[in-house]
Amino acid sequence: MTLFIASDHGGFELKEDIKSFLMQQNIDFEDLGVNSSESVNYPDLAQKISRKVLENLSTNRGILLCGSGIGVSIAANRHKGIRAALVDSVTLAHLSREHNDANILCMGGRIIGKEVAFEIVTTFLNTEFQGGRHQKRVELIEEF
Ligand code: RB5
Repeated sequence: MTLFIASDHGGFELKEDIKSFLMQQNIDFEDLGVNSSESVNYPDLAQKISRKVLENLSTNRGILLCGSGIGVSIAANRHKGIRAALVDSVTLAHLSREHNDANILCMGGRIIGKEVAFEIVTTFLNTEFQGGRHQKRVELIEEF
């Protein structure tokens, strides 16, 4: 798996916390920015990480943050092949992988505490797509 992480200013602080967590866990990642809490436009970061994930859909995954998580998830989901899931619990992290084969995890830096975010990240990265009846449903989305 190749992991990318990105945020706007609203998600910057949580992105930095998640980066420290990933390093502690010896999980490699590439940080696509931003590099400060200076105001930026979240669609630019959503497009940047979506393009990276689309370079290899079988291996690449993303973690994408803004203030609420809503803006970046809307923007990322405009890219065909991206399934970005807005998650605020471990249960949703689990389901986003098992049922939806989500390839980008979105969270709100102003919504979620860092300890919960770490558990969500761990679950997202370690849960496999279940396939079976969910395979056809994901394929139907990709036919849009
Ligand atoms: C930025 O203020 C904020 O609008 C953005 O981070 C995000 O929450 C948008 O959905």
